[in-house]
Amino acid sequence: MQEIVIGNSRFSVAELIGKGGEGEVYAIKGRSGQAVKIYNAGLRSKREDKVRAMVGEGLAIKTDLVAYPGEIVTDNQGNFLGFVMRLVSGYRPLHELYSPKSRQRYFPKADYRFIVHTALNVARAVGKVHQTGCVIGDLNHSGVLVAQDATVALIDADSFQFRLNGKSYPCVVGVPDFTPPELHGKNLASVERTIEHDNFGLAVAIFHLLFMGRHPYAGRYSGPDISMGDAIAQNRFAFSLTRQSATRTTPPPAH
Ligand SMILES: Nc1ncnc2c1ncn2[C@@H]1O[C@H](COP(=O)(O)OP(=O)(O)O)[C@@H](O)[C@H]1O
Ligand SMILES: [Mg+2]
Repeated sequence: MQEIVIGNSRFSVAELIGKGGEGEVYAIKGRSGQAVKIYNAGLRSKREDKVRAMVGEGLAIKTDLVAYPGEIVTDNQGNFLGFVMRLVSGYRPLHELYSPKSRQRYFPKADYRFIVHTALNVARAVGKVHQTGCVIGDLNHSGVLVAQDATVALIDADSFQFRLNGKSYPCVVGVPDFTPPELHGKNLASVERTIEHDNFGLAVAIFHLLFMGRHPYAGRYSGPDISMGDAIAQNRFAFSLTRQSATRTTPPPAH
């Protein structure tokens, strides 16, 4: 069992909760309700400054809707490993609610009222991030978690764009389906993300919720096959009767 140090105290990690592209998330023995994210070895030095800045700002105590880094975690020699955050348990990723098939399985009692309630809570959580001075940047269907009472929690907060004392710590990634037209083709590692960019991703998430997992840019384009990212980049929004001549895209079948 791996030993970790939080403040001046030693802890052991408990079960593995999740694994992403950047590291692993574990429960912590003796700290119920909290989790530790341990970065892959190659990423630690790149992330250390940003995580220390986020912890120093006290973001984690500003809201419990977001699993912000709350404390620094090191090994026994004091080398940076990652951070402690709120353990979000009993929640499911947003896509398991908006796609009807998995909704039946994971949210069997969810009706349309529940969906609208969730959409409002997603918007609230995103607004909260902006109030704390961050931009999500990589807003997507896996970073938004939903509970059986329609409350919402955001994870992967260490990827958020964050500014402190004139220094900007960027969000270096993004999912094409949630990325606004003006960012397609840009280098996400260096471009400054804005609240408006997040609002596009939020609108995509809400559309998915309200229209049974349908993407707002779904449609039949009369030209060659294009990806969803291309459809966004080219502004081919099909659910508008007035613009069909310009977009050359009609809504998908059964709409
Ligand atoms: N605070 C948390 N509470 C519960 N599970 C979490 C938490 N943070 C992350 N996870 C789980 O770990 C996985 C990877 O975390 P994430 O931060 O998205 O990783 P990465 O940034 O490496 O892609 C998530 O998909 C989720 O299942
Ligand atoms: Mg991440």
